Amino acid sequence: MSLPEEMRAVEISKPGGPDVLQPVTRELPQPGLGEILIRTEWVGVNRPDALQRAGLYKAPPEASDLPGLEASGEVVAIGPDVSDWKPGDKVCALLPGGGYAEYVTTPAAHALPIPAGMGMREAACLPETFFTVWSNVFERGGLKAGERFLVHGGSSGIGTTAIQLANAFGARVFATAGSAEKCAACTRLGAERAINYREEDFVPILRAEGGADLVLDMVGGDYIPRNVKAMADEGRMVFIAFLQGPKAELNFAQIMLRRLTITGSTLRPQSDLAKARIAEALKAKVWPLLEAGTIAPLVDSEFSLDEVAKAHAHMESSGHIGKIVLKTA
Ligand SMILES: NC(=O)c1ccc[n+]([C@@H]2O[C@H](COP(=O)([O-])OP(=O)(O)OC[C@H]3O[C@@H](n4cnc5c(N)ncnc54)[C@H](OP(=O)(O)O)[C@@H]3O)[C@@H](O)[C@H]2O)c1
Repeated sequence: MSLPEEMRAVEISKPGGPDVLQPVTRELPQPGLGEILIRTEWVGVNRPDALQRAGLYKAPPEASDLPGLEASGEVVAIGPDVSDWKPGDKVCALLPGGGYAEYVTTPAAHALPIPAGMGMREAACLPETFFTVWSNVFERGGLKAGERFLVHGGSSGIGTTAIQLANAFGARVFATAGSAEKCAACTRLGAERAINYREEDFVPILRAEGGADLVLDMVGGDYIPRNVKAMADEGRMVFIAFLQGPKAELNFAQIMLRRLTITGSTLRPQSDLAKARIAEALKAKVWPLLEAGTIAPLVDSEFSLDEVAKAHAHMESSGHIGKIVLKTA
């Protein structure tokens, strides 16, 4: 397959607002040991891209400086020691960075097949949120069927994924979101109760149900002590972000007296092996649900690569419900 030497991409010209995202021409990346080169078709936009653009989230030193953590497309070249994929295969993949481009490299073990029956646009929405939700809710958080699960930011890319997966695996889902329309989307996706946090306090609602066995939080700030109040004895809380800030005053005696567990993680700095293991678990346990249509990514809107600043502004307005994608091909 003959490949061009250069590609269109979008770089972060300096830390700042959406306008610092600038179109550039870059050399094609080369797949290294164990890597594949993907010609992208669609690229998912995630909140971490916006945080990286604003200078609030550093890319790991070995990653591309270009933003973009997930894509769907076609494998067009493979590096040494790759046996799982060959040129021509269609994949969706978790990326170390570099997704806002026509071509990107990633470890072969971080790519997954396009679920049967799913379009490339929807498939681009899967990796970042499904890797994050699977590893934090089911592996780290240990969510089990029948448990009460509270997820904040229920209408976000992460939230819409977490609601569907938790529901599919038999948990009772409670979600918070910032408008009636967002709450309606959460219940359509499988939440038993959606809580408009501008009008209702989630703490007494969860307490009346016996407390949350697991909380997935991306808000932080004053949600931290309120989450503790909303938790059941022996409950767990997993942090994946702190949109409202990472500091709070907390009575730690509650952790001891009610045997609570507080943990958290970020996906990007984890080892290639850890991400490969998450990919394997997703393929075995979650891909069949996507192929059966039991769950499906919720796409809010699509933009061209040239409209990337608009896509970021839309994400930061928090007007979206579900995922935002960029068309690169
Ligand atoms: N740990 C990890 O590995 C990992 C991986 C991926 C993403 N994340 C994090 O997970 C979060 C969700 O990511 P995403 O891509 O799904 O983002 P997203 O779609 O932009 O969702 C963020 C949502 O959070 C809600 N929100 C609540 N408090 C907020 C606040 N103070 N500021 C802004 N928004 C607030 C907003 O909805 P309302 O209208 O309901 O407020 C917004 O829609 C982000 O914080 C991201 O950094 C973590």
